[in-house]
Amino acid sequence: MSLLLEDKLFRTENGEPAVLDRRDLETTLAADSSIDELLFRAARAALLRTLGSGVYLRGIVEISNACRKNCLYCGLRSGNTALERYAMSFDEIVMALEDGWRAGLRSFLLQSGELLGGEHVSLIARVLEWTRRQWGDSVRMVLSTGELPRDALERLHRAGGDRYLLRIETSDPGLYTKLHPDDGLHSFQTRLQCLQDLREAGWQTGSGVLIGVPGQTPRHLAADLVFLRDFGIDMCGMGPWIEHADTPLFESRDEAPPRESRVGLTLRMIALLRILMPDINISATTALQTLSPRGLEAGLNAGANVFMPNLTPLAYRRKYSLYEGKTAVADSIPEVLARMTARCAAVGRHVAPGLVGDPPHFTAGRPRPAQHAAERLAGGDDGPSIG
Ligand code: 5AD
Ligand code: SF4
Repeated sequence: MSLLLEDKLFRTENGEPAVLDRRDLETTLAADSSIDELLFRAARAALLRTLGSGVYLRGIVEISNACRKNCLYCGLRSGNTALERYAMSFDEIVMALEDGWRAGLRSFLLQSGELLGGEHVSLIARVLEWTRRQWGDSVRMVLSTGELPRDALERLHRAGGDRYLLRIETSDPGLYTKLHPDDGLHSFQTRLQCLQDLREAGWQTGSGVLIGVPGQTPRHLAADLVFLRDFGIDMCGMGPWIEHADTPLFESRDEAPPRESRVGLTLRMIALLRILMPDINISATTALQTLSPRGLEAGLNAGANVFMPNLTPLAYRRKYSLYEGKTAVADSIPEVLARMTARCAAVGRHVAPGLVGDPPHFTAGRPRPAQHAAERLAGGDDGPSIG
């Protein structure tokens, strides 16, 4: 580690603003593990100064595993004919949300593959409207349902959606092309435009990247961090690439770093992003926890402040197979939460299930969230009808 970089990390730890440039990011990502202790300490200090030690929860409901896209790394790709597809009904989704509510959760993520059909969008809108009627401003609803046209994004925001997670996967157009088929359906520019649309439509906007894919270098990852900072995301979910035998990228698995290194790279990416963007929400992703049994603790220690317990009914959860080994424990939600709470406490962090956890990066300088949502409800907009 160069003395200059070490000095910059010490300064960050001691409360001076981040001064890491692109070269520092690349050097850190390419360094050996001797950098980790100082890096993670600096990131934790930045987090504790800005957001404190709380850990926010988002209950995930994987509402459908159908997808029109064919990304080369993903088990849900349309070309994977081995996968049995499902779509949860309105009642099933609402029951899963109610389970989460009873367990104390106040923020929920609806996730699916990318489906443009009006029926899918209408179903999501109905669920969002239901949550608003039921719980008003005491919850935050997050969507992760792929690239949708701008009018659908606006409609879903009016219906009650607060946050949207759309990963860029990589900020490098060349690498993007290697990870996606060239069939007119997978465009880097469209992805960027959609992120822009989300922000303009008023969503808290989240993004993230895949880490450790074949062909990716520390330079790519450093550029990803710069992209996420310069775009000004409000939240981030990024995790290691994990092989899936029914995907084309599986064939190139020997060109990827070993799994342990992908975990290490993910932790460094979390720490560096925390230093660059202290006031955003960053999750310790399921993929990180899948590749490493102590992924939750390690992610929190590197600067993450969110994790996402799964509320999807078990029979469906097994079919939401983005990658191999995605965990699907049969325990009840209260049992899972109790275990996770204890694990967080063991690394000095307290779980705050009842807090909606808006990132200051989004809320600073805006109307208070309560006002914001109340305005939306009272606004007499011409969104989808309730009922
Ligand atoms: N390994 C890790 N993450 C994956 N995703 C899709 N396939 C994989 C994989 N094989 C992630 C992508 C996508 C999110 C829904 O899941 O980043 O945005
Ligand atoms: Fe579909 Fe998303 Fe998987 Fe791509 S990564 S195939 S868009 S679910």
